[in-house]
Amino acid sequence: MKYSIVVLAAGQGTRMCSDLPKVLHPLADKSLVEHVLDTAVQLTPDCIYLVYGHGGELVKAATAHYALSYIEQTERLGTGHAVMQAMPDIPDNHQVMVLYGDVPLTKLETLQKMMQLPANTLGLLTVKLDNPTGYGRIVRTLDHKVSRIVEEKDADVSIKKIKEVNTGIMTVPAVHLRQWLSALKNDNAQNEYYLTDVISQAVEAGMTVQTFEPDTLEEVQGVNDRIQLAALEGYHRQQCAMALMRKGVTLRDPARIDVRGSLSTGQDVLIDVNVLFEGEVTLGHRVKIGANTVIRNTRIGDDVEILPNCVIEEAVIDAACRIGPFSRIRPDTHLSTQVHVGNFVEIKKSSVAQGTKISHLSYIGDSEVGAEVNIGAGTITCNYDGANKHKTIIGDHVFVGSDTQLVAPVEIGEGATIGAGATITRKVEAGHLAITRSPQKTIPNWQRPVKVKK
Ligand code: UD1
Ligand code: MG
Repeated sequence: MKYSIVVLAAGQGTRMCSDLPKVLHPLADKSLVEHVLDTAVQLTPDCIYLVYGHGGELVKAATAHYALSYIEQTERLGTGHAVMQAMPDIPDNHQVMVLYGDVPLTKLETLQKMMQLPANTLGLLTVKLDNPTGYGRIVRTLDHKVSRIVEEKDADVSIKKIKEVNTGIMTVPAVHLRQWLSALKNDNAQNEYYLTDVISQAVEAGMTVQTFEPDTLEEVQGVNDRIQLAALEGYHRQQCAMALMRKGVTLRDPARIDVRGSLSTGQDVLIDVNVLFEGEVTLGHRVKIGANTVIRNTRIGDDVEILPNCVIEEAVIDAACRIGPFSRIRPDTHLSTQVHVGNFVEIKKSSVAQGTKISHLSYIGDSEVGAEVNIGAGTITCNYDGANKHKTIIGDHVFVGSDTQLVAPVEIGEGATIGAGATITRKVEAGHLAITRSPQKTIPNWQRPVKVKK
């Protein structure tokens, strides 16, 4: 069966109190509408239509990476009117699925079930709510068949008591939908063309209306204000935590982890509290991550240990490295196996080969550091001359004494030793010792000044 998905996103979102169109507000670092579109794409429909209105240019720019047909709804005359705008482009033999751009967390499986319906059937996603106020109510006949949907504002007291409500998500054969939409009237409490009015038309035409229920309420929850947005973000956080634990990850507290992107994990990973993952992060087997750490777009190998309070972005960290506490690893950094990076060390755009130790208070930028190197405390690569960045190259087995400045461009040959407190501006040959400190002077029996009495 061929499918067209119509995503309704013309709403303004007044209650967000924002200049940004509602559907562009982020949930876990991805806009609401992108959540919907990512799910829609996975359903592999023939076409996805995005009905936009308010903030159209922004919505288009933010969704430019999808293959979409954009449909402008210039006047917001109701959900039926919104779907109608897309109908001229949808072939008769398609099944139309309607999604809302502000309902971000509907599960793929829920929608897949609806897509398995036979062609000549209308599918409706409904939920039962303890407090159904505000929603369209599902009216059923005595033998429990759906007969129509009545909006809250048009409902009488007895209909208002119905707890089963319309989520807005439905599938309808295009050929019939086209006909039913064109017959819609707006003689209701809101003077809108209600998409929901196609239900009674379908029933009259003898079409089966099949209802589905999502596994959780949050799947069909829309976002109207920032309180609902935060609630769904919390739900998303919880879902990610549950999924990780099911895969065998130990979370010291499932309420204190955020995955804003995709996180793939090996066996027996342990994650302490307040760890934030952004973008695409991969963790190998037995990785341990300490508390209060942010990791973005990074690949981490087996047996790596990240101690607390690190910020790591766009890096590749090979097996058995030990990072932190308080380390900052910046973009384009590659740490080979068994590298140790300690507290208050910043590394940027550098490669560090196997077994090297950079343990305390250092800045390593634009550098190539060899294997089994020891970088002493307080070593700085002076990579920037005020105008341009320059490279530092350090060979294998080099020993850099503490409090050293390596003024780039500069090279330290294999096995060279740099005495503590050096300022190195020229190449040090392999195996040489470089010392730049002035010779120590000592003055015997030195008398310190004494305080003058007033
Ligand atoms: C709609 C349903 C109601 C259901 C509820 C679930 C109708 C008539 N009512 O009501 O049965 O219980 O959703 O949340 O369908 N939109 C447009 N253009 C428009 C109008 C709406 O794009 O002209 C979009 C909105 O941006 C939103 C969605 O359609 O994403 C739903 O619109 P909304 O105004 O929230 O409908 P409700 O009155 O809540
Ligand atoms: Mg609504």
